Amino acid sequence: MTLDLAKRLDVVQPSATVAIAQKARELQAKGIDVLSFSVGEPDFDTPLAIRDAAKKAMDAGATRYTASGGILELRQAIAERSAARRGGVKHSPNEVIVSVGAKHTLFNLALALFEDGDEVVIPAPYWVSYPEQARMFGAEPVFIETTAQDGYRVSPAQLEAAISPRTKAVVLCSPSNPTGAAYSGPQLRALADVLAKHRCWIIVDEIYGELVYGGFEQKSILEVAPELRDRIVIVDGVSKTYAMTGWRIGWMLGPKHLVDACNTVQGQATTNPTTIAQWATVAALTGSQDPVLEMRAAFEKRRQLVVEGINATTGLSCPTPEGAFYAFVDASPLIGKKTPSGVVLADDLQLCAYLLEEARCAMVPGSAFGAPGCFRMSYACSEAQIAEGIERLRGAIAKLS
Ligand SMILES: Cc1ncc(COP(=O)(O)O)c(C=O)c1O
Repeated sequence: MTLDLAKRLDVVQPSATVAIAQKARELQAKGIDVLSFSVGEPDFDTPLAIRDAAKKAMDAGATRYTASGGILELRQAIAERSAARRGGVKHSPNEVIVSVGAKHTLFNLALALFEDGDEVVIPAPYWVSYPEQARMFGAEPVFIETTAQDGYRVSPAQLEAAISPRTKAVVLCSPSNPTGAAYSGPQLRALADVLAKHRCWIIVDEIYGELVYGGFEQKSILEVAPELRDRIVIVDGVSKTYAMTGWRIGWMLGPKHLVDACNTVQGQATTNPTTIAQWATVAALTGSQDPVLEMRAAFEKRRQLVVEGINATTGLSCPTPEGAFYAFVDASPLIGKKTPSGVVLADDLQLCAYLLEEARCAMVPGSAFGAPGCFRMSYACSEAQIAEGIERLRGAIAKLS
């Protein structure tokens, strides 16, 4: 007997990025030499000082429940670091809530904010969870298409056109997953001028905010438009910056009544994020930032290898991303080509399946991010893997007719 599930899940897709990474792991477990470019996590170990802080915390008895929204020491450290990074715009610790990763932060927000009839404006290509979380709570995602030509950034006119009286929130991700594109201060200011005219929340995902390259100056809309502070929600975390994906710590900074609402949600769901991981995060935020600089320098070199390699490959092209660790590759010239076994590659899903089979390279199809004809290539892997991967891609592409 198969019993019914909640109808709300009928409109929700499982995470495509998680699925591809899983498929690559399965092939690797069978001994097949797959190069995974699908992962969304740094390949570095968590810096030693952070791991040591966790061990110390455990030994000192930090093994019990904490306040649901996180220990005061951590919320204070988050507030201070945020003010230092975002032009001195301050939050008090009770305007901060710590959750089980930034994905959980966004889920809490979706539950606290979205309901039937709401619209959520999301620039595409988008990170996979934004539309699915909105749909889960009855809201309708409204996408703004961006292209490589416009640097995968929305213009003020596009934003204005997408906002309606039903818009509950606009979600911005800068630097972006999946494109790596980031907005400059003046570009954010121009978007803020549009947002100032409308009554909606501004959810800003800055989880890649410390991973920008080539002297790009990372700016937050909070810094360039502090007058919108009472409706800006900053989402951030340690996963990407400190190579701490498995520790599951993310947070938001926002107005107290929204933080209180998320505390209510979290208090009935997970209670506090892991106590030991919270103390490790205090060490990450307040200790030496040298490991971050080292990881950033490594990503910057890899970015160059990927961008040069892709743009020197027939049928592929990508703009140079300002940040994160992804290249967003336009592969549309390859769609419609025929594989050696006679299959016509009808779309990016088939192209990525072919690249996995023929080149043993795992990429995430652009369709997963609302951008058909493209794929996302993560460069959170060694330079040797990037060089080998580009060679393999060229070999597989050369076999298409
Ligand atoms: C844009 C973006 N936001 C949020 C997250 C969630 O990160 P975590 O839940 O590990 O903190 C990710 C992870 O891939 C991401 O790419």
